[in-house]
Amino acid sequence: MEQHDNDKVKRPEDLRSHRWFGPDDMRSFGHRSRAKQMGYATEDFADKPVIGILNTWSDLNTCHTHMRQRAEEVKRGVWQAGGFPVEVPVMSLSETYMKPSTMLYRNLLAMETEEVLRCHPIDGAVLMGGCDKTTPALLMGAISMNIPALFLPAGPMLRGNWRGKTLGSGTDVWKYWDERRAGALCGEAWEEIEDGIARSPGHCMTMGTASTMTALAEAFGMTLPGASSIPAVHAAHQRMATQCGRRIVEMVWEDLKPSDVLTREAFDNAITTDMAIGGSTNAIIHLIALARRAGIMLTLERFDELSRTTPVIANIRPAGAYLMEDFYDAGGLRALLWRIRDLLHLDCRTVSGRTLGQSLEGADVFNDDVILPLDQPMAETGGTFVLWGNLAPDGCVIKPIAAEAKLLTHTGPAVVFKDYNDMAARIDHPDLDVTPASVLVLQSGGPLGAPGMPEWGMLPIPRKLLQQGVRDMVRISDARMSGTSYGTCILHVSPESHVGGPLALVRDGDLIQLDSPQRRLHLHVSDEEMARRRMAWTPPEPHFTRGYGYLFSKEITQAHEGCDFAFLHTNADPTPDPEIH
Ligand code: FES
Repeated sequence: MEQHDNDKVKRPEDLRSHRWFGPDDMRSFGHRSRAKQMGYATEDFADKPVIGILNTWSDLNTCHTHMRQRAEEVKRGVWQAGGFPVEVPVMSLSETYMKPSTMLYRNLLAMETEEVLRCHPIDGAVLMGGCDKTTPALLMGAISMNIPALFLPAGPMLRGNWRGKTLGSGTDVWKYWDERRAGALCGEAWEEIEDGIARSPGHCMTMGTASTMTALAEAFGMTLPGASSIPAVHAAHQRMATQCGRRIVEMVWEDLKPSDVLTREAFDNAITTDMAIGGSTNAIIHLIALARRAGIMLTLERFDELSRTTPVIANIRPAGAYLMEDFYDAGGLRALLWRIRDLLHLDCRTVSGRTLGQSLEGADVFNDDVILPLDQPMAETGGTFVLWGNLAPDGCVIKPIAAEAKLLTHTGPAVVFKDYNDMAARIDHPDLDVTPASVLVLQSGGPLGAPGMPEWGMLPIPRKLLQQGVRDMVRISDARMSGTSYGTCILHVSPESHVGGPLALVRDGDLIQLDSPQRRLHLHVSDEEMARRRMAWTPPEPHFTRGYGYLFSKEITQAHEGCDFAFLHTNADPTPDPEIH
């Protein structure tokens, strides 16, 4: 998009960075002389928008290994458009290696993003992320800072391959691990799968949390059109990165900020898209947190409302058959949004400067097996269901398209594990009192209890049932589940067991009823008995007495509230820019 002078609402002296570089005083002398220390001349930076390229590259983030090169490509675009690029490393949140869970640190990256933007002479930001929590974290921080910003998605990795079979991140790990546990897969084959499942830079290429969140970032207008579906190693990804560099400079002159893009309707577009792609359940927590940063009180009810009117049309694993590379070749997210355009608010603005409707012009579906026709969806409705009941007074979620249909209405006796270690110790024990009709319950998996609400929600099927051919059971926890997972898993039970939610009071043998069509989860235990159990319940010891974990424990909200820190929600009093003395 070309920049026209009449699009400009800012003059050079209006730039945020002008406060650092413009005045004729001692501090500004220091700022200018130190820019020159890096080898830049006055004409490189004077009167130009300073663009912060926030890069979540790290040697420990396997999904972002291409992002150093991408940052250079962003810089190319920034220079071309007359800006001054500065690359700033921020915390990487490696889904693979961080323990106990990247969710413990999402808010830390969000805080870092906001404060890095605030304390530096930055006029606009390109946010480089993709591995699960990096997307919501960067966007949460940018929303709170509210200077011009756009998101550059890392892009999915290429398809995996094993002996001619396509492999998908996560999804096929769970699948073949169950075969290995059942004794149906030898060590040699298992190692071959290890060699072939992740064969390029990029984030998980199933419709896991990474692909979901980058798609939703595009749907609510914070990426360039079509950006989220481009495979990480495709040359189009490099071109997109350079375009991000050009566009953010224009956005600074136009003063186009997240608050101009992220309206209630934009969030509705994201939720509708989440349902149509059969997105990760994690997206619900992140979207609530993002919306609340933007001052919009999004609740679980809105997800359930929009799930009832949106067909699932992305035929992508774990719920479907294909992978993100196929999705891109089929037209990508623009094509899918075009197909569901009647369900979207097409007049929402996007960072491209155009409306969502304008950015979809010319989009088309090239493969109806991957992006299904509206009259032949994977499911008529219900990418995610929200359930309520005496076991989850503040709600919980289930992804019905990833579950065995017959289990969506089910009553069975509970088999309770008090925490992950208890489950790991007993789940495969031959004496475990469990049948295919049992309901597996995991306590202490929530934001405070685990801590950090890890992706433990796809509890493993007990080995003795695996050997009988059982591959799905009803499972309930206050944990999350990887977006690449599948099964009849009821997640995000709120309030969590650690704070005394009813999940803490379930005992072996209690009957639990799942009625997905009625959106109901019921524990068949009388109120009187629950009151007795509550009296006997003692709160667990806190996990942290100092450090970041202590702050997390004090401020984290429950899953239905987005798991943000309470003090980071938008309030009427924005944090001011720093004084320069
Ligand atoms: Fe990075 Fe899956 S491990 S997106």
